[in-house]
Amino acid sequence: MTPDELKKAAALAALAELQALAPESLIGIGTGSTVNHFIDALAASGLRIRGAVSSSEASSQRLAARGIPLAGLDEAAALPIYIDGADEIDHGFNMIKGGGGALTREKIVAAAADRFVCICDASKRVAVLGRFPLPVEVIPMARAQVARAIARLTGGEPRWREGFVTDNGHHILDVHGLAIPDPRALETELNQIAGIVTNGLFARRGADVLLLATAAGVQRHERQSATESSR
Ligand code: A5P
Repeated sequence: MTPDELKKAAALAALAELQALAPESLIGIGTGSTVNHFIDALAASGLRIRGAVSSSEASSQRLAARGIPLAGLDEAAALPIYIDGADEIDHGFNMIKGGGGALTREKIVAAAADRFVCICDASKRVAVLGRFPLPVEVIPMARAQVARAIARLTGGEPRWREGFVTDNGHHILDVHGLAIPDPRALETELNQIAGIVTNGLFARRGADVLLLATAAGVQRHERQSATESSR
């Protein structure tokens, strides 16, 4: 199977996670190529939901084009589920996200959701986070100062994602050369640096369910649970 076929398999498997939802439910939607497959599958599924809270302009456009109603976070008194991909996920269900630059809104919508379902292909699963450069969204005027602070703190090498502006009007630093054995601690420390809007570690709010597409099928893993099955 190609990487894209694996992403599609993970996305299709996520439909089963919505079966128990009431038709008036809103769901949270992430960003990226795996989520794009999920949006297409959701539109084709005939599943009835009230609509989606989106984490990016790109996902909003795709949802609208597929006829799925958009809702603002303010309208979502409850958000039972959030579906998103990841750039890396470790065995504690901590993730690096933001390869597509949507990390800030992803973190906001994920924080509002009762359950985070991560959909990805098996190449994203790692023992230790950090091989994928860690995205950090920064206020543009603070970029160089933040880069120096991150280098001092982590020993990594922050590189400006030149020419890229986030949906929020900010810049991205991608931090190379990290190994992150304690993602929760690093997420918290990075949050203290003035000028950082959001860092791409999702450890304080990690995934609850992982749908991991392998050549042998989609594995379902639940955090802190022995409940694991293969579809
Ligand atoms: C978007 O900013 C990211 O957090 C994505 O969720 C992540 O990069 C996964 O993207 P793909 O599904 O395209 O691999």
